[in-house]
Amino acid sequence: MKAIVLHSVSEPEALRLEEAPDPAPGPGQVVVRLRAAAVNHRDLWICRGRYAGLRFPIIPGSDGVGEIAAIGRGVAGVSSGASVAINPSLDWGDDPRAFGPKFRILGLPDNGTFAEQVAVPAANVLPRPAGLTDEEAAAVPLAGLTAYRAVVTRGRAQRGETVLVLGIGGGVATYALLIARQIGARVLVTSGSDEKLARARALGADQGFNYKTADWVAAAREATGGLGPDLIIDGTGGATFEQALDAARPGGRVVSYGATTGNVPELTVRRVFWKQLSVLGSTMGSPDDFRAMLALFGEGRQRPVVDRVFSLADAGAALLRMERAEQFGKIVLRIA
Ligand SMILES: NC(=O)c1ccc[n+]([C@@H]2O[C@H](COP(=O)([O-])OP(=O)(O)OC[C@H]3O[C@@H](n4cnc5c(N)ncnc54)[C@H](OP(=O)(O)O)[C@@H]3O)[C@@H](O)[C@H]2O)c1
Repeated sequence: MKAIVLHSVSEPEALRLEEAPDPAPGPGQVVVRLRAAAVNHRDLWICRGRYAGLRFPIIPGSDGVGEIAAIGRGVAGVSSGASVAINPSLDWGDDPRAFGPKFRILGLPDNGTFAEQVAVPAANVLPRPAGLTDEEAAAVPLAGLTAYRAVVTRGRAQRGETVLVLGIGGGVATYALLIARQIGARVLVTSGSDEKLARARALGADQGFNYKTADWVAAAREATGGLGPDLIIDGTGGATFEQALDAARPGGRVVSYGATTGNVPELTVRRVFWKQLSVLGSTMGSPDDFRAMLALFGEGRQRPVVDRVFSLADAGAALLRMERAEQFGKIVLRIA
């Protein structure tokens, strides 16, 4: 098969399609012939050598949709040719509160979806959401799952609450907006781009603040009668996370799912205890989170936001677009 194989830490520009062995399904596994994949920040960190547990060679990629091409020993209830979406949360374990010791994300250490075929546990393939194109369906799994757990399972967003989603251009952030809107929350967003703020408003955001040109903490307070949002969803980390603790209403919740800009340089602990805040960490999601999230996108009731579609051979250009934060929504790779 053809695949994007990382042999060492690389510049995204250096990625090339090459021949790789066809995967064979191990016991309990299936092989999926992929139609489309999507790009996540994780793939960029891995390419740049900034991810824990690196190993080479590796085929990156966590998101994929396609058809079942081969079925391993001991697999029941999966038929050849079935059209599936892959849950990239591998071996979550039995505890819905957190994953267990065998947990992995597809695309490292296991070979991922920047390829014509991928082998995954049969438990990780589900019927793909009907009513979506291949590109839309491939855009859903990792970012949709992360956003669902952050907003619903951990953040417990409620109808009528105000949810602030930071950095709305991000893949996960656009899903957080769609999911919070579907719950009936009022949604505020931030972005470094006025154009992205306008696009977020077209998707249902009530108000947006540019973090490069405005004091978004003050603006978010003003938009909530001086109190601050009930729930803040942050994948940015760094100084922005500390500002989120400042912006949240007393008794509010702040969910952290990422740290694009790094660690928090200085944390004012007093904000957490004085304001009675709940600070909640969230990563990926359980099998139940994945099923519930896919149902939201079933029958085309909710459409994911696809930023741009590249061919698999142009995976490097897709990663560079993400690195420059040029995207709004998910960057997708067309495979077949
Ligand atoms: N824990 C998990 O399970 C999990 C899952 C997926 C992703 N993540 C992490 O979550 C983060 C986002 O991932 P993604 O794939 O959604 O990434 P992405 O699509 O690359 O989004 C990154 C976005 O961050 C925003 N941003 C950058 N600097 C900012 C700042 N100072 N303030 C506010 N926003 C800022 C930008 O938004 P604008 O363009 O609107 O300015 C940018 O588009 C990454 O760190 C990723 O590793 C974690």
